[in-house]
Amino acid sequence: MNREYSCKILKRDMLTSDTAYLTIECADIANRAVPGQFVNVSCSRFLKRPFGIASVDTSAGTFNIGIKVVGAGSSELASIEEGSIVNVLGPLGNGFDLSASDSFILVSGGTGVFPINFAYETLRSKGKNVTMVQGFRDKSQVCLTSDEYIVTTDAGDYGIKGTCIAGLDTLKIEGNTTVCCVGPVPMMKAVGNWASGKGLKCYISMEQRMACGIGICLVCVCKKKAEEEGIPFEHVRCCKDGPVFEFGEVIL
Ligand SMILES: Cc1cc2nc3c(=O)[nH]c(=O)nc-3n(C[C@H](O)[C@H](O)[C@H](O)COP(=O)(O)OP(=O)(O)OC[C@H]3O[C@@H](n4cnc5c(N)ncnc54)[C@H](O)[C@@H]3O)c2cc1C
Ligand code: FES
Repeated sequence: MNREYSCKILKRDMLTSDTAYLTIECADIANRAVPGQFVNVSCSRFLKRPFGIASVDTSAGTFNIGIKVVGAGSSELASIEEGSIVNVLGPLGNGFDLSASDSFILVSGGTGVFPINFAYETLRSKGKNVTMVQGFRDKSQVCLTSDEYIVTTDAGDYGIKGTCIAGLDTLKIEGNTTVCCVGPVPMMKAVGNWASGKGLKCYISMEQRMACGIGICLVCVCKKKAEEEGIPFEHVRCCKDGPVFEFGEVIL
């Protein structure tokens, strides 16, 4: 069931010059959310804006989202004052299947770092074997990182120079491993093809432009390979049927 909450912004940190990290009070969302899900957050614009859940703290009754400024809505939310109240719809969509194996490779590109962070924290708390590969444009965008992670930058001014594929190519794959990836479509396509080449299952998350976030308006549809013979494709709603899909399920 979709629920809307009035939530207090408890804390706002700036992770980079244009990326904020908000701690939002809502015990219900913190308790119900699973990695890969997102929330729709109100601002003064007509439509709410979707953001992946980056972390939860069930004992504090809070969750986090990371917001990179790209336009008016994200700019407003990234500079919101602590103590402000926002309306939040969520948690929305379907998350990653984290029971798929005991070993995971998590790959983020850009703001994909946020939903992937939640997957990392959850898998580690379950004692699973997790390797994190983070791809950023350049050093100024690097956030939510750790010395334990493999980091790549296109500019080569931090970590390995190149895309996250350069990071993935350094890995030795052992046993039954699942890949989860969130980032721009060309990046997820490259990661999905890399995983297929190694015979690994790969999940991707589609961050289409959205409006309602709950499957009604059809703004977010993408094409899925049809199961019925003779039909080239069918449409799926990324907000309701996704945003997480198995690589190869949706047409990128
Ligand atoms: C499921 C989902 C999860 C997301 N998670 C995060 C997150 O964790 N952190 C984060 O910073 N952003 C995330 N986004 C993207 C975020 O929702 C958009 O950046 C935001 O809605 C833009 O609003 P705006 O008013 O600032 O920009 P607008 O004025 O609406 O648009 C400004 C520019 O951003 C582009 N844009 C808008 N929405 C998207 C989108 N969905 N994908 C790519 N480009 C877009 C527009 O084409 C335009 O060029 C997510 C999107 C989805 C659908
Ligand atoms: S955003 Fe409305 S159906 Fe997906």
